[in-house]
Amino acid sequence: MKLLCGSSNPALSAKLANALGCPIVPAEIKRFPDGELYTRLLEPVRGEDLVIVQSTYPDHNAMEMLILSSLARDQGAKSVMGVIPYFGYARQDRVFKEGESFTARTMLRHLELALDHIICVNLHKEATLRELSRPGSGTNVSVMGEIGSFLKTKGIDMVLSPDKGAIAYAREAAVTADCPYDNLEKTRLDGMSVVMAPKDLDVRGKRVAIVDDIIATGGTIVKAQEMLRAQGASRVVACCAHGLFTSGGLEKLRPVLDGVLSSDTIEGATNGYSAAGPIARAVKDVVV
Ligand code: R5P
Repeated sequence: MKLLCGSSNPALSAKLANALGCPIVPAEIKRFPDGELYTRLLEPVRGEDLVIVQSTYPDHNAMEMLILSSLARDQGAKSVMGVIPYFGYARQDRVFKEGESFTARTMLRHLELALDHIICVNLHKEATLRELSRPGSGTNVSVMGEIGSFLKTKGIDMVLSPDKGAIAYAREAAVTADCPYDNLEKTRLDGMSVVMAPKDLDVRGKRVAIVDDIIATGGTIVKAQEMLRAQGASRVVACCAHGLFTSGGLEKLRPVLDGVLSSDTIEGATNGYSAAGPIARAVKDVVV
């Protein structure tokens, strides 16, 4: 097995290569002056099980995955697996209004043209993988256990998800952190605004962690922490799988939280735990 690393996740790719004990295929990946991508493998991959690590967000990264996977096929790789640390368009996971695009499915349909298997990390809705034309050709792994281990070292007393839909994340993290969990009651009004329904929580004097799959604008976490502070929480940290931090999200969160952490599915200053372990386990399960 060999790893081909796209340009989205160099640090995670190195950890993954280490966890899998497999070499990284040297490649030249650069942009032409007009922004178009140039890719060249500097070593043969014929007959190899090739694992390509590349997120599909923002759009130019999706294009890179399409080009790399097709290149791997053209170069005669025996199998081509795509590890997609952050899957762009995952939240457009159904047709909400007539005439809209089901973009997560559109992405899968294109990605599976040259990928035999796709591994995602905390895909916004796991069921989206059922849209793949080959049943069982997608795996969703989770970093919530990694978040739980991290929270355990910080002496967190309780884990909360922002809404019922994300309670499974809170449960998974709380089991590892060995503490209770619950959910808040968020309703999204639009892309930029959310409201939290009042809910009495036993958080007075406690160190609380809010966990979610994605932090984007930070609006969800800002509202959640307001409610927890109002009810007397002594410390509030936020942990997510994917730290997108759009629209100044991180600048909004830093002053009101005791910590903001994300995994290396999107590399940046908030990375506090890695997705390499769960991804490596899934890769080993697929490539036998
Ligand atoms: C939505 O359902 C997700 O799980 C997150 O809660 C959401 O993406 C967070 O977005 P924001 O940070 O913009 O509130």
